[in-house]
Amino acid sequence: MSTTADKKVFIKTYGCQMNVYDSERMNDVLVPLGYGETEHPEDADLIILNTCHIREKAAEKVYSDIGRLKKLKDARHSTGQDSLIAVAGCVAQAEGQEIIRRAPTVDMVFGPQTYHRLPNMLEKIKAGGKSIVETEFPAEDKFDGLTSTSGHKRLSHGVAAFVTVQEGCDKFCAFCVVPFTRGAEFSRPVSQIEEEVHQLVEAGVREFTLLGQNVNAYHGTDSDGTLLSLGALLDRLSRIDGVDRLRFTTSHPRDMNDELIDTMAHNDVVMPYLHLPVQAGSDSVLKAMNRQHTAQEYIDLIAKIRKAIPHLALSGDFIVGFPGETEQDFEDTMTLVREVTYAQAYSFKYSVRPGTKAGDLENQVPEEIKSVRLTKLQELLMEQQLAFNEQSLEQEFNLLLERQGRHEGQLIGRSPYLQAVHIEAKGHKIGDIVRVHVDKVGPRSLSAHIIEDTAQLN
Ligand code: SAH
Ligand code: SF4
Ligand code: F3S
Repeated sequence: MSTTADKKVFIKTYGCQMNVYDSERMNDVLVPLGYGETEHPEDADLIILNTCHIREKAAEKVYSDIGRLKKLKDARHSTGQDSLIAVAGCVAQAEGQEIIRRAPTVDMVFGPQTYHRLPNMLEKIKAGGKSIVETEFPAEDKFDGLTSTSGHKRLSHGVAAFVTVQEGCDKFCAFCVVPFTRGAEFSRPVSQIEEEVHQLVEAGVREFTLLGQNVNAYHGTDSDGTLLSLGALLDRLSRIDGVDRLRFTTSHPRDMNDELIDTMAHNDVVMPYLHLPVQAGSDSVLKAMNRQHTAQEYIDLIAKIRKAIPHLALSGDFIVGFPGETEQDFEDTMTLVREVTYAQAYSFKYSVRPGTKAGDLENQVPEEIKSVRLTKLQELLMEQQLAFNEQSLEQEFNLLLERQGRHEGQLIGRSPYLQAVHIEAKGHKIGDIVRVHVDKVGPRSLSAHIIEDTAQLN
């Protein structure tokens, strides 16, 4: 095993936060093999595209990127240096061998459940030279191959980190590829998560975002064999020394249990931010999407959550132009948004995905209509985001300083509500938690000044 970085890896991450997590874990696996990360693909011995299949655009972008990388690879080859191109992630899982057929320059294709086998795959390539496709869902659990006992320490990448606690999905929303690309719903055992969090605390991480496609469906086994819900897991992790802030994403309305609401209401380490997508506001669209709840049920659920956590920042996802969506259906979405009000939200035009239940529906909404609806919805959501930020004006809260700002001395942190907040550092550094007073608000960020000087706050 080599310890110095004598080879270079370039990893490009597309898609969701779980892919960000997976890319970091791939890097963790490669470090003991002598790979150091580079931001320059032209210097890389190994190029990994960690891809996303959620919408057509995301998936197609991978092929144009491969086209560009092929030129770099050929140029390196002509100077006697080799580089390998790997396609990982959800496009790899969905398309497998097809990727190599379309782009023969690709050396390796592996899905989200097999990247712990990277050392083995690299060995095989070195020995045989033939391309490799590993996209089955293996019997062994990838997370077992990523623990310290298997020689893979979790390395730190800053003061806020993602930790996957649940993966996969059994909900099969009619539009969505995730149950196919990530597989069946699975919860990691509690002790494994605790080990990872301990390692990250030691490496200087103070804020943890627990990830799962249906994170609030978490039901992981504790060491005594009992099952812990997400609320109980958050409570447990909040007691670890050095865990100052906890977040989690993404939740599904059907799995929003009272225990989680109670934890959010009473545990100060758990931040008052909830990402709870509804996708649409019309019952007939929700039914066609197979979301398994009505608009009113969602509205009532939000009312119940807000009663327990009045200062909650609510976030969501929306799809406009699902097949068969009428003007009235779309207006129902606008009405729901007006009634619920969001601190922040993501919205998308429906994109046909092969293999999903909605993939071969005939009653597609024309692209121009989708665009008009998306613009209208985004205007409303942006108004609400600004209104939410305006409530923060002259407020005080604790800020975790996460990264350098644009100019010298400026640092950027996240408020408890996940707003980006700019401050003048004045002797403080990344990783400090400071108490601030908000002086200025905009639609996308806030500015504040420090009012209290302690790194012990949380
Ligand atoms: N697991 C999460 C998120 C899944 S993907 C959840 O259940 O909410 C993130 C978002 O992408 C979804 O919430 C949805 O709004 C959007 N999305 C998924 N499939 C899509 C499609 N075919 N077209 C457009 N948007 C889509
Ligand atoms: Fe996709 Fe629905 Fe599962 Fe979310 S709950 S990952 S949208 S199938
Ligand atoms: Fe994309 Fe896969 Fe995440 S499809 S959104 S990278 S789970």
